[in-house]
Amino acid sequence: MIVTRGKQWLLLAVVLLAVTVIAACADKEAQGSQGEQTTNLSPDEILNTAFKEEFPLQYESYLKNMTPENENTSKFEVGIEPNLPMLFHNYGFMLEYNKTRGHTYAVEDVMNIKRINDDSIGSCMTCKSTAVPLLLDEMGDDYWGANFRSEILPRVLSYGEGEAVEELGEYGHLSIGCSDCHDPVTMDLRITRPSFTNAMERMGIDVTQASKNDMRSYVCAQCHVEYYFEPENKKVTFPWDNGLMPEDMFEYFENQAKEDGFEYDWIHDISGAPMLKAQHPEFELWSYGTHGEAGVSCADCHMPYERSDGKKKISSHHWTSPLDTIEQSCLTCHNDKSETYLIDRVETIQTRHLDAMEETQEHSVKAHYYVNRMITAGVPEDKIEEAQYYVRKGQWFWDIIAAENSDGFHNPQGGIDALRTSSDASNEAIRIATIELTKLDVDLEELEREIEKVVEAVYNEEDPDKKHEHAINDFFPNVLELQQ
Ligand code: HEC
Ligand code: HEC
Ligand code: HEC
Ligand code: HEC
Repeated sequence: MIVTRGKQWLLLAVVLLAVTVIAACADKEAQGSQGEQTTNLSPDEILNTAFKEEFPLQYESYLKNMTPENENTSKFEVGIEPNLPMLFHNYGFMLEYNKTRGHTYAVEDVMNIKRINDDSIGSCMTCKSTAVPLLLDEMGDDYWGANFRSEILPRVLSYGEGEAVEELGEYGHLSIGCSDCHDPVTMDLRITRPSFTNAMERMGIDVTQASKNDMRSYVCAQCHVEYYFEPENKKVTFPWDNGLMPEDMFEYFENQAKEDGFEYDWIHDISGAPMLKAQHPEFELWSYGTHGEAGVSCADCHMPYERSDGKKKISSHHWTSPLDTIEQSCLTCHNDKSETYLIDRVETIQTRHLDAMEETQEHSVKAHYYVNRMITAGVPEDKIEEAQYYVRKGQWFWDIIAAENSDGFHNPQGGIDALRTSSDASNEAIRIATIELTKLDVDLEELEREIEKVVEAVYNEEDPDKKHEHAINDFFPNVLELQQ
């Protein structure tokens, strides 16, 4: 077909219009009448079970998060992340650290994890239950630092008394659910966690003005992000003022957080270093990865459209691996690729990523023990502190990546960049230690052999609860006890 220039534009306009109309229809079909909808639910409704009657299809999809065969799997197994019991020594994460499970289990899992003790605080409930926004209304800023077991948990459970249903397990009616992401009256997507709104505001972004597409990621970013407890009232705070990259957040912890009085999450008792613990930064890594930059939302991959009762199209509410729904999650955009090609691409990215991560964790283990030897050998304090800074830095840059749950897929390049920074920092700690230990004639070959022994002992212990007990011995004492 030969078209003149003018006609070309006209043709393009017609095609674009047609595409827009088709897209709009597809949206309509899935959304129902969003924005105008009025349910019979109370604006304060928080029980997942209450939504069943009006939204049976989404509720049914939500039930698929109940996959009992997904028992809590420890990350400490050899083949997963066997170095963690050493790397998180003297912190709750050395006791128990599991892979994720479905949203419906969040309340049950936070109640039972060994990291929760009698001193744990309300903030730990923040990304687990639909009751949290109501608690914040009732308690204001007292919520964050209130005692988890004696104050917060009884309040949460009191909301849903008598409402448990077998299909959602004992606590699924109150676990991450409908009201966390939807206004119960209009069913519009909404933000319910102030930590996210505040962090975005500090970056100059007003989330009340967010586009519909942005909201399809923002609802997830309420929880799937890095955070820390701000020292004054233990409020969940996102360290985003300098940006969302691992180096931006590290800079925040070294500067703004310290100015506010937050120095560390815990002190490591092998190296004595003041440490940071990173948490699940899916949103941050995604945001500067290929898909985030192209505007592909979390929901595009994790909540693809599905035909539920054979005719009506709904958004899947089973949050799991998109590789289980590759046709709806990926081929919608990558329709020039085959399913096997895409799976192969993801697996290649993930294998390379996990190999690189294991290597950086090994460097980090070595750095902790080298600094331990600096302390027992009596190296000058300023050199020890210099090495401890690099131990902290090295661990942050692998942990922020290890805590990200896509095994590198959300941002392959960003992951590898951070791991390289991690290795450089850990090796710098080892280099400083080597120079100082050599000055004191410390036997470095013996040190290497002792590290090998300790690592073996941790790996060989079969009980995940006991692995951490092997990380300290006569050769590598707890340095916090030495200092007392
Ligand atoms: C983690 C956030 C989240 C939770 C929890 C959640 N939804 Fe959704 N829901 C979404 C997103 C994202 C969409 C897509 C909306 C869009 O693109 O406008 C959606 C869409 C919907 C729609 C519009 C029709 C459709 O299928 O796209 C309904 C109705 C709905 N959800 C009901 C529910 C019900 C009922 C529950 C609880 C059982 C629930 N949702 C829990 C995020 C959530
Ligand atoms: C209110 C907090 C909260 C919100 C909102 C939230 N999540 Fe989660 N998500 C969690 C927690 C907590 C877990 C881990 C639950 C466990 O292991 O008990 C989790 C687990 C997951 C998992 C792993 C499931 C598995 O089977 O291992 C996926 C995938 C996931 N979320 C995706 C999303 C997406 C996509 C969104 C947005 C549409 C979202 N989440 C919104 C808190 C949240
Ligand atoms: C381009 C598609 C895509 C986008 C966009 C995307 N993800 Fe993922 N996500 C994946 C894939 C693929 C995996 C790896 C699944 C696997 O290993 O089986 C994954 C893994 C995860 C996991 C771990 C699941 C598990 O079983 O432990 C979580 C949690 C998660 N994504 C949350 C998010 C959040 C939150 C966003 C938005 C900020 C997001 N994802 C955006 C494709 C995507
Ligand atoms: C809404 C559209 C969309 C969806 C859905 C989507 N992608 Fe993409 N994907 C893109 C765009 C745009 C790019 C960047 C441009 C390009 O390379 O084609 C991209 C790039 C990629 C790349 C190459 C870049 C990289 O990061 O390695 C891979 C691999 C990929 N996608 C896999 C997937 C997989 C697997 C899924 C499903 C879990 C998926 N995509 C879902 C749009 C999408």
